Amino acid sequence: MCGITGYIGKTNGLPFIIQGLKRLEYRGYDSAGISYIENSKIKTYKKKGTIHILEKNIPGNINSTALIGHTRWATHGEPSDNNSHPHNDCNNNLSIVHNGVIENYSILKAKLLEEGHKFTSDTDSEILAHLIEKCYDNDLLSAVRESLRYLEGPYGLVILSAKEPDKIIAVRNGSPLVLGIGEDAMYVASDVNALAAYTRNVIYLEDRELAVLTANSYRTYHFESGEIQKTIDKIDWDLVEMEKKGFKDFMEKEIFEQPESIGKTMKGRILKEFATSKLDGLNMRTSELEQIKEIHFVACGTSLHAAMIGAMWLENYVRIPCRCEIASEFRYRNPVVRADTLYFAISQSGETKDTIGAMQEIKIKGGKVYGICNVAGSTIARLSDGGVYLHAGPEIAVASTKAFTSQLAVLALFTLLIGRSRNLSPSVGMQWISEFEALSSNMDKILAQMDHIKSIAQKAKNYKNFLFLGRGLHYPIALEGALKLKEITYIHAEGYSAAELKHGPISLLDKDMPVMFIIPKDELYDKVFSNLQEVKARTCKVFCIATEGDTRVKEMADDVIYIPESREMFTPFLTVVPLQLLAYYVAKLLGKPVDQPRHLAKSVTVE
Ligand code: F6R
Repeated sequence: MCGITGYIGKTNGLPFIIQGLKRLEYRGYDSAGISYIENSKIKTYKKKGTIHILEKNIPGNINSTALIGHTRWATHGEPSDNNSHPHNDCNNNLSIVHNGVIENYSILKAKLLEEGHKFTSDTDSEILAHLIEKCYDNDLLSAVRESLRYLEGPYGLVILSAKEPDKIIAVRNGSPLVLGIGEDAMYVASDVNALAAYTRNVIYLEDRELAVLTANSYRTYHFESGEIQKTIDKIDWDLVEMEKKGFKDFMEKEIFEQPESIGKTMKGRILKEFATSKLDGLNMRTSELEQIKEIHFVACGTSLHAAMIGAMWLENYVRIPCRCEIASEFRYRNPVVRADTLYFAISQSGETKDTIGAMQEIKIKGGKVYGICNVAGSTIARLSDGGVYLHAGPEIAVASTKAFTSQLAVLALFTLLIGRSRNLSPSVGMQWISEFEALSSNMDKILAQMDHIKSIAQKAKNYKNFLFLGRGLHYPIALEGALKLKEITYIHAEGYSAAELKHGPISLLDKDMPVMFIIPKDELYDKVFSNLQEVKARTCKVFCIATEGDTRVKEMADDVIYIPESREMFTPFLTVVPLQLLAYYVAKLLGKPVDQPRHLAKSVTVE
């Protein structure tokens, strides 16, 4: 969702601005633009469409030491050249790029129009350029600070001024911004992915902080308390993790990477000697674990599906009451927050606005909230009282895959940890550890069936609708399978508990409604099998994910994908993989842009 880059240095910053925007493409966007200073004047180029289109429309000889860039994901005003960022003031002295939403923009715009400012777009963001212009009195920093007093809503903002060409100003309030500290150059971007090729030294701005950057200095300020000192963090992952490594798409790479990424998540976290796990980042003593009476999860989308499975594990195996909630609903329903409840926020990106909002609600009410996230240094990671990183490596494709299985791994490790501190015996702990150890090779066995899954995709691609059915641990997997299919293929898909079928969706069944059953050999197998028969009797095409050797399912289904046998608790790690692959292959067959599906963003930084 909207990408920002900014550069101030001693040499031409255009390569960073463009490369940086390309590194942010995965966040989702519909238009792109740049502004730069040349001969003391601001030049701006912006275009609806891809960065590639923008590149074709900018002069080939740009050589500027002060630039800002932006990829826009439309909120106010349709995708168009005019609505693209950057936005400039009336006299073209000032240019801004913005991520977020200025909630009171219509009031501010009406006032600015009354005062004679001329607007050229339908966006909320353009008011920022005019507001700073209005406040400017030969001091850009003062003008920016003065303008901020009027703003409501979240923003990440970078400002370039022809009158003060030796600096750029970056402001964060609710939308992430990271500073990159270079040699004779300073950078700013919406996330570290844009910076990694240029510097490993970064500073994460917090909400209500701003920075003034020059070619060889940076100063950071808090909106209220004045100048502050910030620590420099190091980017600790390798740039090659951001390459496709021979795969056609990032999503394909990330699906096939799972045996490895799950291994990274578990690395160093299993204590065989004591048949338990250790999650150092949680910073919780055993006595604290013992006091937990309930566990609540807040998350969105795929992360919510992982949370649902974690909640079932914890209730079933550790007997702790658990609850899972859509973060955006939790934050606005005035929830009861209790000191003896453990709150977890789960997020791949660590920047999901709704999840951050839920965390803030928990904190306001005096609760402690722990994070499970992938992106180090992200807002959720920094807002957490403790937490566990996934260590799954950068996830670039919009549709989440490897982060999901790594989230499951963290939740299973946590179930083992808290279980062993309570009722779980060492022998059960050891059985689980054997399952953890078998996960990567079991996943490999499923990935090896890619040709079979491709052949099912050939049949699946012709349908307009799809139902995914499962029960127990595989109800969230049904939701996840449907989410994957709909988001990247645009085929309408719904996930249901198989038992809910007769409470409504059964009326949809006919030859045009294919059904995917997730039916491994578990406690609810016989019940799901009855549902399968009910569906088959209604002329539907039936696809199944079943346990190796299950011939009964084979007789009923049109196609079966087999997963290796495993302990019931660990089956969701396996049943989800064929569903990810199926969605991927259907999307490829339909010619869809798999990594960047329409309208979607990787980091959902607005409500
Ligand atoms: C689906 C998907 C989304 C995200 C959701 C939460 O494939 O990627 O549903 O899971 O937007 O994002 P995070 O996990 O970054 O908080």
